[in-house]
Amino acid sequence: MRLLPASQEFAVTDGPGKLQAALMRRLVLPMKRYLLSSEIAHAKHEVTVVNDPFFDKLGVSQSAAWALVADILAPLGRAVDPKIMSIQYACFAALKLSGFKPKAVLELGTAVADTTQFLSRLFSDSEIVTVDLPLDDPIYQMALAPAETAHERRKQENLNQPNINAMRMNSLHILSAELPKFDLIWIDASHRYPEIAWDHFYAFHTVQPGGWVFSDDVQPMLKSGRRIKTASHAEEVLAYLNDRFPGTIDLLLKRQDAEKYVLAPKYIAAYQKPKEK
Ligand SMILES: C[S@@+](CC[C@H](N)C(=O)[O-])C[C@H]1O[C@@H](n2cnc3c(N)ncnc32)[C@H](O)[C@@H]1O
Repeated sequence: MRLLPASQEFAVTDGPGKLQAALMRRLVLPMKRYLLSSEIAHAKHEVTVVNDPFFDKLGVSQSAAWALVADILAPLGRAVDPKIMSIQYACFAALKLSGFKPKAVLELGTAVADTTQFLSRLFSDSEIVTVDLPLDDPIYQMALAPAETAHERRKQENLNQPNINAMRMNSLHILSAELPKFDLIWIDASHRYPEIAWDHFYAFHTVQPGGWVFSDDVQPMLKSGRRIKTASHAEEVLAYLNDRFPGTIDLLLKRQDAEKYVLAPKYIAAYQKPKEK
């Protein structure tokens, strides 16, 4: 059997993919926006409270968490807008405010290391391990190499913190790295099969009892029962876990924006491994 390299997936969809994206932006989205305008108006309040149960469970207000995010990012000149910014920042800040003190934190998928930098400042006494593809990985070559110089420069600037241990490897090889157990894991590498499945498998087995796993870009089924055509398979993997450990996974709205919430909601999953008795 001849296998199509996984990276070709990007290449073969390039042309029609661009046209489809342009049609979505110019035609479909404005129409949907118009048709759903009353639902969007209605959701304006809902988006401000939908994530509250997570923060309530930790006994920390969301506004206190965002204030800490702003304090951490101010020296870097990064502005904080809770409506636009991804909710993981507030979640990690809330964990800190609740007294959570991780010894070791793992991020799968470094990109330009914006979250890595934040984690290293928030948990300055922890070791922050972050993993990203090596330069010769076919997926890196296909998707990231064209933008390599600027991308790598920003990554290196952000990674320049004493408590960050940045590793270049495909997460496929992570078991061979013999890393320690982690108290907090941020799954944000590839969101597609097959990687998303082994990243969750690894996180599930490597997180300490009482530790937390967060998984980015979960796009669940819509109310209509239709699945959004998505570049993320995280929801299927999490649904599989949820069937076996019901009630342990929370979904947080990634961006607290009414329009996104109604048109194409994206979530971040959070689960805490039960403490051993
Ligand atoms: C969405 S970005 C990460 C964003 C970053 N975590 C943040 O919060 O700003 C995804 C990154 O995962 C990396 N990646 C994709 N597949 C991977 C794999 N199998 N192993 C390691 N890293 C991978 C990509 O190179 C890319 O830099």
